[in-house]
Amino acid sequence: MSPHSLLEIRDLYVSAKDKEILHGVNLNVRQGEIHSIMGPNGSGKSTLSNAIIGNPTYTTKGRILFKGRKIHLMNADKRASLGIFFAFQSPVAIPGVSLRSLIRTFLNEKRGKQSYEEFNRELESITSLIGFNRELLNKELNVKLSGGEKKMSEMLQLLMFRPELAIIDEIDSGLDIDALKRVSRAIELLSKKSGVILITHHTTLHKYIQPTQVHVLVNGAFVESGGIELADKIEREGYSAWLKKKNSG
Ligand SMILES: Nc1ncnc2c1ncn2[C@@H]1O[C@H](COP(=O)(O)OP(=O)(O)O)[C@@H](O)[C@H]1O
Ligand SMILES: [Mg+2]
Repeated sequence: MSPHSLLEIRDLYVSAKDKEILHGVNLNVRQGEIHSIMGPNGSGKSTLSNAIIGNPTYTTKGRILFKGRKIHLMNADKRASLGIFFAFQSPVAIPGVSLRSLIRTFLNEKRGKQSYEEFNRELESITSLIGFNRELLNKELNVKLSGGEKKMSEMLQLLMFRPELAIIDEIDSGLDIDALKRVSRAIELLSKKSGVILITHHTTLHKYIQPTQVHVLVNGAFVESGGIELADKIEREGYSAWLKKKNSG
């Protein structure tokens, strides 16, 4: 037991449509830590994220504690209001709402009304930090955007919201290398005051973001945890070692 955990997952089983996808997962994330979750396609990475944020499509058994509170008993809105943000693998479009107004509305609700000058200063500073295309700020959210632009839009929201726990699903898919470098630097800055769960199936990302721990998820269970050397091993050998063990055992 770790009293200073931000997120503590204990013996978590997750199912969708009567199919068990995660089979007893444990994870501990503290403030200031970046945890990378790696695993082959279909291993359950996005399912884990959805279970943490409370997506009602998934049913869970086990405990998910956020700052000691039993969030597995709370709905998704409540969990988000406590400070958990999920940057989706495939962000959704919201016609009629601009990115700028979405961020402003959210921040007004969360922190109380901020002056326009103050809000714009903060937005400008993060826009520059990640090299976000300013034209997109006043466009409808994720409507007619490329995959990479949608990802950047999610990253901008994440950095403006500054959640205590950020779950980021495959940022490296769809971002060009310059954007990836800038976003990575911004995530490292965010992580000083937050906990971060990074989901990726490529190791390229670790050139730019130094994870505290790397966890390997195969067939709905963590099979190994370690440092960056684990990601290097995956880069060389793929997931075959764990898949073989599973098949032969
Ligand atoms: N809502 C759902 N209904 C049924 N099966 C699902 C659902 N979500 C995920 N799955 C299944 O669970 C497994 C893990 O999916 P997912 O968590 O998306 O994997 P990953 O993100 O690691 O690629 C896959 O076999 C997928 O088809
Ligand atoms: Mg996924």
